[in-house]
Amino acid sequence: MTAGGLDSGFANLSEDAWHAFVADVAQRLSLREGDSVFEVGSGGGAFLYDLWRRGCVVSGVDRSPALVSLAAEVMPGADFAVADALAMPTRPRVDFVLSHGVFLYFPSHEYAGAVIEAMVAKARRAVALMDLPDAALREQAEAARAAAIGGAEAYARRYAGLEHRYYEREWVAERLVAAGLCDVVIVANETRGYGNAPFRFHAFGFVADDTRRPSFTD
Ligand SMILES: C[S@@+](CC[C@H](N)C(=O)[O-])C[C@H]1O[C@@H](n2cnc3c(N)ncnc32)[C@H](O)[C@@H]1O
Repeated sequence: MTAGGLDSGFANLSEDAWHAFVADVAQRLSLREGDSVFEVGSGGGAFLYDLWRRGCVVSGVDRSPALVSLAAEVMPGADFAVADALAMPTRPRVDFVLSHGVFLYFPSHEYAGAVIEAMVAKARRAVALMDLPDAALREQAEAARAAAIGGAEAYARRYAGLEHRYYEREWVAERLVAAGLCDVVIVANETRGYGNAPFRFHAFGFVADDTRRPSFTD
């Protein structure tokens, strides 16, 4: 969690809240022991760790060699590689393809759209895009982040050139539907105690099967 910045001043997330969040996502996806899960931007593996402990087969890519080494060290047998998100392998397919706290770092919406297409191509059952900055709440998010480190000027000095990318909820839902997913749903990030949560959302979409038909709810 520390390696992924989840206990930093902005995030300030407790381990209990994090376990509860991962369990909630696992339940939403009907994730079970033995399922395969791939994460784009898997970092030090904070999100995948609880799934690995539940007996899921986890893998991921991240552009940071140090974080990939850390994830490989704490999850023996899992498959982590250093790669840019756009270069993620779409084969072999896995049950679930996830991303948490990563889309905010992408260089453009075009790039994000291409990553979504690759994620959908790799997924057999569902795709989860988590912790995306909400474009409708950009002003409030930036004010809160600036206030947390002593004002707008200090914030601008420290984070010049490192601006987050914000996403319209509708844009994300449309990309998932256009890529072929069903039952697409956008939900507010309600992770208890997480400082960024009020300004972030998650998107879930499912691969079509006999029981699922294309739809979108907000
Ligand atoms: C806040 S951390 C989240 C890590 C992990 N997903 C989690 O929730 O524990 C963001 C991660 O995204 C990775 N990242 C950012 N942009 C990326 C890109 N274009 N391709 C691959 N990884 C990227 C960073 O290296 C970092 O490990």
